[in-house]
Amino acid sequence: MTRASQDGAAARAVLFDAYGTLFDVYSVAELAEELFPGQGQALSVVWRDKQIEYTRLVTTCNHGAHYKPFSVITRAALEFAIKRVVDDSENSGAAPDFLLQYQAAMEQLLAQYQHLEAFPENLGVLKQLKGLGVATGILSNGDAAMLNATVHAAGFDGLLDHVISVDPIRKFKTHPDAYALGEKALGLAAKDILFVSSNAWDALGATWYGYQTLWVNRYDLPFETLGTQPTCTGHDLHDVMPFFL
Ligand code: LAC
Repeated sequence: MTRASQDGAAARAVLFDAYGTLFDVYSVAELAEELFPGQGQALSVVWRDKQIEYTRLVTTCNHGAHYKPFSVITRAALEFAIKRVVDDSENSGAAPDFLLQYQAAMEQLLAQYQHLEAFPENLGVLKQLKGLGVATGILSNGDAAMLNATVHAAGFDGLLDHVISVDPIRKFKTHPDAYALGEKALGLAAKDILFVSSNAWDALGATWYGYQTLWVNRYDLPFETLGTQPTCTGHDLHDVMPFFL
């Protein structure tokens, strides 16, 4: 694990991003590959990228007038990804009825999204934090029903003190009002909370907001190149523990 600076007090609580950090969003690629042979990986990546792009669109345009919950955005992004990626020479993705033939596949993929696999070390780390009495939570763009289903399916029931969705404020991360929800729920200042995300853009947004941050760089990717570094960079969730031991 690498630390960008020695500044900062010990963290008193920890907040996790959900998708990509606790739950493996690309685990749907396997099902996507079964449903769309040869195109599953591309479909999953376009789906995820478009999902995040749509969160930004609805948060920044017209003061939130076009906000839709993450589950709705996730469905819309899947529709886009199928139209964009699935190569069907007989039936162009631009045709109005193109998606009709893929309704069943879409429902299967969306259902799978509620049963994402957790990364293997996460359960043990959450149990260790619980044993130490560290306050824990999720702070996610996901809406409550999605998050609760996924937390349950991963076997995390009872291991997280807070499951915080941005849905009630109708603004997605990286809006500062979304990050403020974490401080409010924990009753602590951001500088006393460790925010953990595998999504570089989220680790950057949380760092700018004022959290101590751990970017979990599972895939040896470059960090965002906008001049700010997370407090720490690690490789998996075990790298949370030095903040609390
Ligand atoms: C989340 C997504 C953005 O859980 O990863 O907030």
